Amino acid sequence: GYDATPFLPGRRARLPGLWKAAARCRGCPLYRDATRTVFGEGDAGAAVLLLGEQPGDQEDRQGRPFVGPAGKVLTRALADAGLDPAQAYVTNAVKHFKFTVPEGRKRRIHKAPNLREITACRPWLMEELRLVSPEVVVALGASAGKALLGSSFRVTEQRGALLPWPDTVRDGGSVPDVRGLVATIHPSAVLRADDRERAYDGLVADLRVVADVLG
Ligand code: URA
Ligand code: SF4
Repeated sequence: GYDATPFLPGRRARLPGLWKAAARCRGCPLYRDATRTVFGEGDAGAAVLLLGEQPGDQEDRQGRPFVGPAGKVLTRALADAGLDPAQAYVTNAVKHFKFTVPEGRKRRIHKAPNLREITACRPWLMEELRLVSPEVVVALGASAGKALLGSSFRVTEQRGALLPWPDTVRDGGSVPDVRGLVATIHPSAVLRADDRERAYDGLVADLRVVADVLG
């Protein structure tokens, strides 16, 4: 099956070592069509780790997470919730951009990663969690939630509350205890919503739960 594990560096690697190793990952077929691996970035001692789905078109071009339209929404929502974007670590459940190019078109259209791809890429996330050791993890949308809570995760049912850190993520103790997990919608869902303002306010309200936990 698909699996990033053979591409992980030794256990003594820090974030820059992970980043370098991930650039060569071929753990699933998504590396083939994407331009590059987009690894997580931010404060290595961050109290909050924000987990998105996968890089988008802009992120694939620039090689950095959340630099496109969804990232702008996220940065504003963090600030409105009283969280400092500079003190967060941002990453994605899947590190390569998955897309289709519709017949006769040029634009690359985002395609959601499937569970096999999310599972294949999880070892990178586990290493990021181990090294950053955040107090709170934020799952942005369904794919992020599935990466942490499994396929039964539903954003609408689980958003906006501090959920216990799931046993499945502890992976034999390699991932340090996190105080909890907060799920919310993906910032790109705000951009697609009929009522953007309402969707945005919901995102901010969920992120305030994180701010409250951190005090
Ligand atoms: N959407 C994501 O989930 N991650 C990014 O990095 C950009 C857009
Ligand atoms: Fe490796 Fe993840 Fe990219 Fe698949 S998506 S090739 S597992 S880094």
